[in-house]
Amino acid sequence: MARLTYSDYLGLNTLLSLQATRTPDTADRAVLLSEHFFIVAHQSCELWLKQIIADLEAAADTLGSRFEEGAAELGAEYLHRANELLWVLYGQLVALERLPLRHFAEFRPHLDSASGAESAQFRQLDKLMGDDQRPGRLYEAFTAALDHAGIPLAELPGMGPAAGVHHRISESLLDIANSYWRWKVAHLVLMTKLLGSLPGTGGSSGAAFLAGRITVPFPELRETRARLHERFTAGPRS
Ligand code: HEM
Repeated sequence: MARLTYSDYLGLNTLLSLQATRTPDTADRAVLLSEHFFIVAHQSCELWLKQIIADLEAAADTLGSRFEEGAAELGAEYLHRANELLWVLYGQLVALERLPLRHFAEFRPHLDSASGAESAQFRQLDKLMGDDQRPGRLYEAFTAALDHAGIPLAELPGMGPAAGVHHRISESLLDIANSYWRWKVAHLVLMTKLLGSLPGTGGSSGAAFLAGRITVPFPELRETRARLHERFTAGPRS
């Protein structure tokens, strides 16, 4: 039987043939390379998203289930990894700041109406995370886990490490919400660097649309944490 190679295992022949630039081959090499960079950044983003969504779904399944031994620890492990990967996504946006405007302006017409706004995986992540109006599946699983452990949410911030794995889960959830928020802000910053107030290829108003999409997940967790200050604040000030 033929030996399994690195390339076969990873499907590299397929993977590395998927960066189909639209700029005509006759264009300047630097423009072609910039479009290649743009495609690689988006493709890697979608690949990491696949892992992040799978990890967060697994965390929600684990936290929302009736606990088996070690289930909360497993949930915490998934959450911790997903947060590290959100930092990777953020790093890709920072790298895209090195996309020269003159090259972007040249290849952008070839994108036609294709837009990140069509990313099905991002929609899925949005749903999992929820926003400032509605809790997503992840947060619901977290509150179910707290109920099951008999820890009132209001007590959690004051308990700190005494709440054990539930403390770590709550800290991880907040990290994830902040990483997601940070990605959205960095995306808006990058977009305005390259487009100013021009509309997006997807037909939205661009910056104004994206600014309106920046919401902060898990507001109840934030507010509950903030109330801890009241314990250490003297009575009402005159
Ligand atoms: C040169 C870099 C980028 C520019 C100029 C840019 C620009 C834009 C603009 C203008 C929109 C608004 C929708 C529209 O009308 O098209 C948008 C949405 C979006 N883009 Fe980007 N983008 C860039 C990079 C990325 C990357 C690397 C990703 C990762 C896959 C991404 C994912 C998204 C998503 C998910 C949305 C929808 C956001 C939401 O609905 O909250 N973008 N982008």
